[in-house]
Amino acid sequence: MSSHDGSHKLWGGRFAGGPAPELEAVNRSIGTDLRLWPFDVRLSQAWAAALATAGVYSAEEAALVRDGLDRVAARIAAGEQPIASDEDVHTFVDRLLHLEVGGPAGRLHTGRSRNDQVATGTRMWTMDAVERVDVFVRQVQEALLLQAEAHKDALMPAYTHLQRAQPVSVAHWLLAHFWALDRDRQRLAAARRAAAVLPLGSGAIAGSAFPIPRDQLREALGFAAISQNSIDAVGDRDFIAEALFALTMLGTHCSRIAEDLILFGSSEFGFVRYGDSYSTGSSMMPQKRNPDALELARGSGARMLGDLVALVGTLKGLPSGYNKDLQEDKRALFDAVDGMVLLLPAVAGSIATLRFEIGRMREAISGAMMATDLADYLVRRSVSFRDAHGAVGRLVREAEESGVDLSALPFSSFAAAHSAFEQDVLAELTPERSLSHRDIAGGTGPNSVAAQLDAARRSLL
Ligand code: ARG
Repeated sequence: MSSHDGSHKLWGGRFAGGPAPELEAVNRSIGTDLRLWPFDVRLSQAWAAALATAGVYSAEEAALVRDGLDRVAARIAAGEQPIASDEDVHTFVDRLLHLEVGGPAGRLHTGRSRNDQVATGTRMWTMDAVERVDVFVRQVQEALLLQAEAHKDALMPAYTHLQRAQPVSVAHWLLAHFWALDRDRQRLAAARRAAAVLPLGSGAIAGSAFPIPRDQLREALGFAAISQNSIDAVGDRDFIAEALFALTMLGTHCSRIAEDLILFGSSEFGFVRYGDSYSTGSSMMPQKRNPDALELARGSGARMLGDLVALVGTLKGLPSGYNKDLQEDKRALFDAVDGMVLLLPAVAGSIATLRFEIGRMREAISGAMMATDLADYLVRRSVSFRDAHGAVGRLVREAEESGVDLSALPFSSFAAAHSAFEQDVLAELTPERSLSHRDIAGGTGPNSVAAQLDAARRSLL
């Protein structure tokens, strides 16, 4: 295994000379995959135990290898660095194991290939990573929920086409983002389930030729099932695509939350003010209060999408089984997870430290936003919605032409627009009244929002 120059290779016996430096440079993946080491160690320990069950190792040898791998883990955790000839994390761990236990290390690779090994380690890393990301998504949800609970009685305009549409509770708007993140958490959980299928035992492509107890491996490594087909198992990276899609949607949702807050924090809106600890200044303009974290959240949704496209582009057109192209999978996966782990706490902090200018929000609700409520008023008095829409449309035009709010029109204008209008119509033009009509499940009425807050709280338990 170790050649005369001190390097340690898992292959090479069949070649007369060594690889060209240019080949080594392009082939090396340790710069990316080193972080798989805790999982490579654990799966190698489970593999040693499985080799003992299969009769390849004695119980003593398996114990020796297991303890040796513990020492390898301790060395790497203490900062031991790979050497130039360590092609990838598997080679690095194997070399250190040889240094720790000598002879028996040479039999650990019996019946396994780096093809089933890397697929297994990457699945373990993915299961762990989606759990880590999930904790951070919950923190963003918690921040949204706390703000929603604090502002359930505050009112603001809701927008369609970015035009003032109808009044809503501030909590209702905040929870809109909460539920998008709830779907992201479900997608992350599904991605975890997709990753929880054990490839180990598949060997390079045809299955291990030793009686490896795959169910013992599955149990030891926390997988839910074992793969059904060795060819599929070594070439399958669907689980990464699924994780990347979940992260892409999560990035997209962070981006949309960020855009709402960036817009609402502008002087033109003035609905929110960023906390000092989440505001940045300008090197030139002393008055600036910039939402950099939110802008980075808006921008980095593109990064996860790029990772997803890179991975699926790599998979498309590959022949079956393992191909070295697949080494690129980890770059995309790690980049997307790293991006999210960095971003989510900053999004949570940005939200938690927001100050809501509820007076400004309330003032932005104009009478015209209750136009639908006026039409509904007529409908409750047996007017068809079509006719009601027409009558209210005329009132809106009249108010616009006379430069007044809809609520400032005299009753005579209402009476002229439709005979079904009575004096009580003016009370219809308050946002509170508008909300009170919307206590339908999922609506912005006060009781609906209270129920929604309860459901959101329960979803975090
Ligand atoms: N570094 C490789 C990867 O990440 C490990 C598997 C290599 N397999 C092989 N047959 N060369 O995909």
